[in-house]
Amino acid sequence: MTEASPAARPSDRGAHGTTLLAGAPRRATDTPAGVGPNLMRRVLRHHAKGVAVITAGAENPAGFCATSLTSLSLDPPLLSFTVGLHTSSWATVESAPHVMVHLLAQGQEDIARRFGGSGPAKFGPGTRWHRGAFGLPVLDDVLGWLALAPVSRLPVGDHALVIGQVVSARHIADGGPLIHHDGGFVRLAPPAGRAW
Ligand SMILES: Cc1cc2nc3c(=O)[nH]c(=O)nc-3n(C[C@H](O)[C@H](O)[C@H](O)COP(=O)(O)O)c2cc1C
Repeated sequence: MTEASPAARPSDRGAHGTTLLAGAPRRATDTPAGVGPNLMRRVLRHHAKGVAVITAGAENPAGFCATSLTSLSLDPPLLSFTVGLHTSSWATVESAPHVMVHLLAQGQEDIARRFGGSGPAKFGPGTRWHRGAFGLPVLDDVLGWLALAPVSRLPVGDHALVIGQVVSARHIADGGPLIHHDGGFVRLAPPAGRAW
């Protein structure tokens, strides 16, 4: 069994059962002994996530596959995602006035793989896309999209946490979502009595 960290002592617990940090404050740049990227990947592969593709670049299109998308607030409408500081997408997202978040549908595994790698082929033949709101690259055949105006870009370890206000959005279809789980793409069965 691989342990990430010792259990918190009772005295480390706050009023609502939250765990307080004991001792010296931790720095976000520290990697605690034994909690490397491999352990992170091994544990987090159980955390099934919907698959998004995030694009930017009103002139030169950039985009990457992302499972870090999180809904933060409905009113005002805020989303967040993280983007690797080493990616070429970050060079565009870092200063982009707007970015486009796409929610992928079942059957878009090829798009997810293409945007999950590195290479110029992302917007080449095989990717159906057009220019949409704010001149952003918009992928076709997705379940919906949300255009964000970034309000914060915060370095977090080897990624940047981007918080964006939703300035435009479109619901396109009610199909099944594409899910990433255990290192692969999987499909959800529709709810009982319904078809996608
Ligand atoms: C399923 C899946 C989810 C991913 N989620 C993220 C993510 O949330 N943030 C991120 O920075 N990279 C994520 N990646 C990796 C990026 O998609 C990949 O590094 C990016 O395409 C790099 O390309 P670029 O250098 O052209 O930007 C994910 C990859 C896959 C396959």
